[in-house]
Formats: sequence, structure tokens, C-alpha cells
Amino acid sequence: MPPSPFDSVKLGSLEIPGRVFKTATSETSADADGFVTDRLILFYERMARGGTPMMVTGNLYAGPLGKSTKNMTGIDADEKIPGLRRLTDRVHDLGSLICCQVSHCGRQVVSSVMGFEPVSASAVREPTMGTMPREITRAEIAVVVEEFAAAAARAVEAGFDGIQIHGGHGYLISQFLTPHTNRRTDEYGGSFENRTRLLTEILRAIREAIGPTFPILLKMNGADELAGRKGLGTEELVRVGRLSQDEGVDAIEVSVGHYESGFRMCAGSFEGFYSDFLKYGSGKDMTRPRRATLGLLHPLLDRMSGWMWPPREGFNLDYARQFKAALDIPVISVGGFQTKEAIQAALDSGYVDAVSCGRQFIADPFFYRHLRQEDSGPTCDFCNRCLARTGYEPVDCFNPQVRAAKEEMLHAEA
Ligand SMILES: Cc1cc2nc3c(=O)[nH]c(=O)nc-3n(C[C@H](O)[C@H](O)[C@H](O)COP(=O)(O)O)c2cc1C
Repeated sequence: MPPSPFDSVKLGSLEIPGRVFKTATSETSADADGFVTDRLILFYERMARGGTPMMVTGNLYAGPLGKSTKNMTGIDADEKIPGLRRLTDRVHDLGSLICCQVSHCGRQVVSSVMGFEPVSASAVREPTMGTMPREITRAEIAVVVEEFAAAAARAVEAGFDGIQIHGGHGYLISQFLTPHTNRRTDEYGGSFENRTRLLTEILRAIREAIGPTFPILLKMNGADELAGRKGLGTEELVRVGRLSQDEGVDAIEVSVGHYESGFRMCAGSFEGFYSDFLKYGSGKDMTRPRRATLGLLHPLLDRMSGWMWPPREGFNLDYARQFKAALDIPVISVGGFQTKEAIQAALDSGYVDAVSCGRQFIADPFFYRHLRQEDSGPTCDFCNRCLARTGYEPVDCFNPQVRAAKEEMLHAEA
């Protein structure tokens, strides 16, 4: 009998009383130095009140060059542990579980905004942000590995229920895995073994730091979708998944794409997306010619993006199926889920052990409760305006109609 969305599932030693998780969405809610704020706690408190069985934080940086936006939360120093502990205590008091996602942005950062010279596997320009990174040195790679391990030890200390390593979306680990962004000729480039070396070193260092049972999750791509470039397909990524399983990863969450793959990662309707991006998001920091072009073309770009990457429930499910067929550990799929029918169908298919949702929880923090009670709450229309403002405004729903429904619901709950 296939599980229901409300049956428990085990990810390694972590038993979770439900199979619909909140996936990582960066919060832009820390203070300027990356410390936890009340606002950030409130974001998770609401979802915990809604009965969400498990939440993954937005990506946290483990070291200075891994920080991709302002007001991103850090797990890079022991002084941050008390704030993080306040967050996990609040969530636990309300009966939910919480894992932290740790990432390194590599080249996917607006360097002029962050004020540092970004690094990557190789010096390959990131076209969506125009960032030109320099090749990270071997000595710096060793520092990154140490930073991830130290972050994992802090995650344990801060009371998180597990740690998720961000190995997808074209962030640093993914930049090493992918031949398009990794053109190195040393022991970190070329063969499969070499391109997976950074990931393997990080996983080993983390296990060493936190012991054999603390849950480690890995978020990774089911496909890079870098047409015409040397991106990875599902077959090789499944091999990465298998290797990670052998290195002690307890579950894999399957997503898709690098920034330069377009918006496959957040397939949507894009209504109002580009004008919000220009007015409130990183469009503000673009060069004048880029701003002028965007100012002129935004209605067309909205339509084109919605046509190229239309929303669909379970848009990464077919990749997940291929991971599930090859792995023994639980597989989670993210991507467009927002109805009980689609979630149940994903579980019925046997392709996944659990699903995760991002934008639907941003629209409706009580989404899990609504699923359980077969009640309806605000429904995300995947306009992606939340994404447009990432790094510039605290994460929230910015679709006027959906936001109004959300405010009304929160007001009624208060
Ligand atoms: C505002 C926003 C912030 C995001 N931040 C992260 C992040 O920090 N880490 C990550 O792995 N994915 C991030 N994502 C991608 C989501 O985790 C998820 O893969 C994507 O939104 C598709 O799931 P959904 O259709 O349920 O929203 C973000 C997405 C959005 C919309």
C-alpha cells in the first residue's frame, strides 16, 4: 500500500511524522552580519504552527566567499550558534523538525554587491549575473572543506535535526561536478572521480565532525539542463547520488538546473516577475544598458518565460524516478507541488519517498494543515515575484491577490 502524505518516513536516524517537507528558500531575513533575527524565526514559526513535519532552512553560508546575498544567514562562526539555537528551540517547541541547508555560491553572486572576488572551479563567466570568477586554489578548496565541516558541527550544537548540503543549482559543489564550469586539469577536474572530489571531501569531513548518525541530506540536480554546454545528464547525476549514498548521505532531494539554465528550477507563470526584479531585486544593481533593455522588454520576457518554463506539479519527478531506481536511501522530489492529489500521485508512483514544496509554503505557511484538513488556503500562482526580490527583501509572497488572502488568513489566526 503506498504511503499517504501524512505517514511518517525515516531519513537515516531522523523519523519525520509526514511526507511533505518545506524545501529551502533563502529568507533574506538575517541582520547585516548574518545573525538570526525575530523576523527569520517568525517565518519558520508560522509553518511550524501549521503542523509542517520538517523544514529545511534557506541556504546558510559557512564562510565569507560562500555568501551570495545580503541579509543571508550565516553558520560560519560560533557566535551565531545562540541565534540559531533560538530558531530550532522555537520550531521544536511547536512540534516540527528543522534541518539547515549549507551552501557555497561560488560564481553565482553579484560580486559588485557583495564586494568580494568570487571563486569557482574554473574561471568561467556566469552569464545571468555577468560575474567573472577566478579559479579557486587547492589551498582555498581545503578551507572550504573545513568550513563545511565546522558548519556541520555548529548545526549539531545549534539543535538542528539534520544538515542538507547544497550540491545542486549551479552552486560551488555543482560547479565542480559539471564539466562546463569545471575545466581544471588538476585532481579536481576531468574524470568523474576528480569532479566529485570536492563533494566527497566535504561529506567525509562532515561525517568526521558530526559522527555516524547525525542525518545528512543532499540536494542535487536531476539534470543540469545546460543545452549546448557540457552539463550533466541524469545518468551521471545518479552516479553522484550513489557515490553520496556510499559516503553516508541519508537522503537525496532532487531538483534541476544552474542559474544559467534559465528558470527550470522555479518553473512558473512569471506574471510581473521581470518588473519586480527590476524595481525591487537585483535588477536594481544591473548596468544601465541592461536595466534599459529589461525596462523595455519586461512584459515580453514574462510571457516568454511562462511559455518556456510553465508551472507543473512534480516537474522534477521523472529525474527522481531514476534516482529512486538506483538508490537505497530515501528520495525526495521538489518542484511545483501544491495539491494533495499531485502529492499522493507522486507517492503512489513509487518514484519518491516524500515531496518538498517551496513557493506554496511561502504563499500559505499553514499549507500542511490545510492539506490534512482538506481545507483550502492561499494558493501560489507561481508568479515568482518572491524569487525576483530574493536577496533584497525578506522572503514573502508578493502576488497582490495571494498576499491579500495570506494576510487575511494570518489576521484570522492571530
Ligand atoms: C524565493 C526562493 C528562494 C530560494 N532559495 C533556495 C535556497 O536557498 N536553496 C535551495 O536549494 N533552493 C532555493 N530555492 C529553490 C527551491 O528550493 C525549490 O527548488 C524551487 O522553488 C522549486 O520548488 P517549488 O515549486 O515547490 O517552489 C528558492 C526558491 C525561491 C522561490
